[in-house]
Amino acid sequence: MALDLFEAARDAMARCHAPYSKFPVGAAIRADDGRIHAGANIEVISFPEGWCAETTAISHMVMAGGTRIREVAVIAEKLDLCPPCGGCRQRLAEFADADTLVHLCDAEGIKKTLRMDELLPHGFKTEVIG
Ligand code: THU
Repeated sequence: MALDLFEAARDAMARCHAPYSKFPVGAAIRADDGRIHAGANIEVISFPEGWCAETTAISHMVMAGGTRIREVAVIAEKLDLCPPCGGCRQRLAEFADADTLVHLCDAEGIKKTLRMDELLPHGFKTEVIG
């Protein structure tokens, strides 16, 4: 079940730059064209300026021409089933659908799967902007 996505998230986690938190995270997105885009968390010494693995993965997808997220896998070395933070839920939702699957992993593989609308039930949305 989405083994390739799990492996991409796990391999991306090895590329994290997390010298301050020492909390490596990896994420991988399967875009609607089937391509996988992965990312890790990247921290800077001015702590709030760092960003999450999911955000790196979204950036890779967008820069590769991807537009929609079909499924996502997230893994953290020190926390089984690491749920995406609030900000990343909103970022993922921007490119996901209500039924997009978000897989939470441990070191062995995918252990829990949630729909995007379970993870972010009342995300910010409006027709007024844009
Ligand atoms: N982190 C992620 O990369 N994704 C999440 O969803 C939760 C938190 C990172 C941010 C920071 O580099 C470290 O984990 C500790 O918060």
